[in-house]
Amino acid sequence: MTTTPLPGHPHFALRGDELFAEELRLGDLARQHGTPLFVYSKASMLAALAAYQRGFAGRKAQICYAMKANSSLGILQVFAQAGCGFDIVSGGELERVLAVGGAAKDIIFSGVGKTRAEIRRALDVGIGCFNVESEAELEVLSDLAVAAGKTAPVSIRVNPDVDPKTHPYISTGLRGNKFGVAHARTLAAYQRAAALPGLKVVGIDCHIGSQITDESPYLDAMDRVLDLVQAVEAAGIPLHHIDFGGGLGIAYNGDQPPAADALWRKLFAKLDARGFGDRQFMIEPGRSLTGNAGVCVTEVLYLKPGEDKNFCIIDAAMNDLPRPAMYQAFHAIVPVKPASGPAQTYDVVGPVCESGDWIGRDRALAVKPGDLLAVLSAGAYCMSMASNYNARGRAAEVLVDGGRAHLIRERETAADLMRSERLAS
Ligand code: LLP
Repeated sequence: MTTTPLPGHPHFALRGDELFAEELRLGDLARQHGTPLFVYSKASMLAALAAYQRGFAGRKAQICYAMKANSSLGILQVFAQAGCGFDIVSGGELERVLAVGGAAKDIIFSGVGKTRAEIRRALDVGIGCFNVESEAELEVLSDLAVAAGKTAPVSIRVNPDVDPKTHPYISTGLRGNKFGVAHARTLAAYQRAAALPGLKVVGIDCHIGSQITDESPYLDAMDRVLDLVQAVEAAGIPLHHIDFGGGLGIAYNGDQPPAADALWRKLFAKLDARGFGDRQFMIEPGRSLTGNAGVCVTEVLYLKPGEDKNFCIIDAAMNDLPRPAMYQAFHAIVPVKPASGPAQTYDVVGPVCESGDWIGRDRALAVKPGDLLAVLSAGAYCMSMASNYNARGRAAEVLVDGGRAHLIRERETAADLMRSERLAS
């Protein structure tokens, strides 16, 4: 039997005439659990993590999985067991890490709008670091820490003002973005942090954007951050760790992002040259750990030929796979059992009542109703951004580990959706 790996998706392959996730047929999983169904490969996630680990071999570094990419408990457990910390952005994410047994000291808390309740809870459980995003937040954090009789470990997220050359909605390190403390204000912010009674300065961090496929923005941002490290330390404030955030892209459509180990070899060459190579480093990768470790299996419901366009209507929709509607993002779509017949060009769309509910445009497919398709690169920012629009329950999720499938999330039912609602009278 011939095995053809799916481009960009380690551990997903066409074997004979069927798509497999590791040792299991996607078709069997779909029959057993229904569609739409997210299927993840544990080995793919661990392979993506291993690339970072190789890049950090011999260095002092901690990988904090940016769980906003996919915060399902079964996925968090994989990274917790592999020794990762977590980058969180809400109290909800904090509770999820604790629920899978993640250690509080390995959690870093990012985000421009942490509420007082979230900060109190994070102080209470003793997280490793608050990545503070404004001078106003420094004051609130210090007050809350003093009130709790604690000292909050802080890092200031700096905005290095470099262009990550990605979609504007996922660029975060430019001057006009809401994120981080402006480059020019950084020293003043650190001096204030060092003077506040409830804070202990432990590091510096930056995150310039997401789906970055070019190494140059990283190298530029690193230079700008290292300049700040020098300025802050010259002012007598030592920085124990340097956190470079996440952002490394994946191949959605033939993109060729640098491999994590190759990128970090280059970054360490710069760090070594500037005398920073032996520092403690942190990173916050999300998409590059899970994105190409997951696919969404969906069934073709109807084919609808049109005057201008042919539509292939599937049972997954923008509530399951929001990225095309939100960012005009491309996800490859392939048949689970490729047929030999002639292909036609279709817009692949979901059942939601919006013209924005499209998953792929102008795709050549040889399909008929009842066939299964796999929407690729669906491991990151799909389930974590899924909604219940049109009162659609969220999809089920399966984690494949070799020849075993673990149902890590049951399909949401109509009753689940109504559970927290009350009639007015
Ligand atoms: N750290 C911080 C502070 C972040 O804001 C983010 C992502 C990450 C780490 C992880 O970035 P990654 O390694 O995943 O690129 N929903 C969008 C992506 C939004 C990213 C937001 N921040 C999408 O579907 O493309």
